[in-house]
Amino acid sequence: MRHFISVRDLTREDIDTVLDRAEAIHRHAYDPCALSGRILGLLFFEPSTRTRMSFESAIGRLGGGSIGVDSIEGSSMAKGESLADTVRVVSGYVDAIVLRHPKEGAARLASEFATVPVINAGDGAGQHPSQTMLDLYTIRQSMPLEKIHVGILGDLRYGRTTHSLVHALSLYDVTLSAIAPRTLELPQNTREELRERGVEVNSYEDVSEVIRDLDVLYVTRIQRERFPDAASYMNVAHSYRVTPELLTGVRKNLIILHPLPRAGEIDPRVDALPYAKYFEQARNGVPVRMALLLEVMR
Ligand code: CP
Repeated sequence: MRHFISVRDLTREDIDTVLDRAEAIHRHAYDPCALSGRILGLLFFEPSTRTRMSFESAIGRLGGGSIGVDSIEGSSMAKGESLADTVRVVSGYVDAIVLRHPKEGAARLASEFATVPVINAGDGAGQHPSQTMLDLYTIRQSMPLEKIHVGILGDLRYGRTTHSLVHALSLYDVTLSAIAPRTLELPQNTREELRERGVEVNSYEDVSEVIRDLDVLYVTRIQRERFPDAASYMNVAHSYRVTPELLTGVRKNLIILHPLPRAGEIDPRVDALPYAKYFEQARNGVPVRMALLLEVMR
């Protein structure tokens, strides 16, 4: 049984295998009945549009089906059932579980009680490894995953997509720049883990200082729901915005990614510029998650 919990558990070869398979799927080189008769359990205890729907689309395109719940209130967890008991029970109904949960570490815990593979679809401020797979896939569509400069902008403290992404990028030969308001910097333990892998992360507070040197700008939302109170959120809300004016003089090959949803940090006028790849990135969720399901469920 193979769980998919954290990018920390993966080698570069593991990642490349999924990306190569996703590329073949994109070219329609896959068996549409590969997971016929298999059921995917979708346990989403936090809101989601992209992750949930792209997993549903992925299993459907491989001939399987899905069942699930989309809130704590809509499940027996509202009656006090533990996550451990929930996954024990759901393991009897499905062939793999996709779990989104507000608490960091929830997917790891679930994997200890499940008797089917567990895929982490986002655990609080922890990790979001399947998002990272489609982020890397989208970069690879435009440029090789080496000798590039990637800037990660926004909420690097609570942003699970950024935590997973920096770990994955540390497996490749890239330059990493972290751009964040001082209170939302990349956690110290993440920096130390990266340093142990020989990766130094440059730090900036203002994206305009580095944007002209980047090949990839990965923008994230400041997540109101992760802050302890409204005042600490308001201190940093709206502290950056990518606009066409900001992009004057950037590299021709720059791509702008965002895991979405966005909440004002990318001006909609940027959508029409050739740099904007975030909607393509969201579309890539389907072939990449198909590749992942084939890896985990077959
Ligand atoms: N990128 C992402 O995880 O989007 P959703 O929250 O809509 O799933």
